Amino acid sequence: MSLLLVLGLPACGQVVAPAGLARRDNASRVRSTPPVRPADPALMVLRLTLAQPGWRGRRPLVAPAPRAIRCPQVKCVALTFDDGPFDHTGPVLDMLAAYNARATFFVVGQMVTEQTGPLLRRMVSEGHELGNHSWDHPALPGLSADGVHAQLGRTQEAVRAVTGVTMRLFRPPYGATDDKVAGEARREGLAQILWDVDTMDWRDRNTPLVARRAAGARAGSVVLMHDIHKSTADAMPALLRDLHAKGYTFVTVSELYGTRPLLPGERYAGEASTGRR
Ligand code: NI
Repeated sequence: MSLLLVLGLPACGQVVAPAGLARRDNASRVRSTPPVRPADPALMVLRLTLAQPGWRGRRPLVAPAPRAIRCPQVKCVALTFDDGPFDHTGPVLDMLAAYNARATFFVVGQMVTEQTGPLLRRMVSEGHELGNHSWDHPALPGLSADGVHAQLGRTQEAVRAVTGVTMRLFRPPYGATDDKVAGEARREGLAQILWDVDTMDWRDRNTPLVARRAAGARAGSVVLMHDIHKSTADAMPALLRDLHAKGYTFVTVSELYGTRPLLPGERYAGEASTGRR
């Protein structure tokens, strides 16, 4: 898997540079990057199937039963990880497991490959939630409605082919959205999930700083991080320890909202500031 591929993808919190500058910058990276082979979902399922001992044909993954957590009554925090899966996703999952923590992963469709498919399957089997983060991370308001539709639909198909999961959540790259993007999200059955705590981990590759910012979450917060950075994976032990010590329960975005429906096309950014916690 190419790190350069990931470096070529701006992170979600990143301010989009003026178009000309961004193009030049990306072009210089792309020239030295091996060509990206689009994932073929059908082929991936076949390969994953053959790779798993004891597999007796196509079947959906078994996810743990939903948990009945009363987030308005207990202190819940939703950790979210964007732009992967990638090499650092496994260590992030290991740390979450150590704390019996569930989180939400907003997947870039282009990152779904033969190598990362098992990570997505692990996420599902360990109770994490998957969300759509577009196919290749463009600023969606700059695309046509058909372009947005393709970004969302192609990612839905890739993730469904590998995990059997139809995602219900969507995080717009850079948090950039508008009425057109909302309309396409609604069409695809996706609620738009933003955040209220930004660790700025894509910019500050500083493990203690990222851990401290994440630990600043409040009850009902949605925390933005990226599992493509080693510094973020390295921050997990401290931030989980600190938030656990403060009495937080680590939940998925859907668990955070409990029985309140997350409506397709609508925007949500956690419950920390709504007064409903
Ligand atoms: Ni992103």
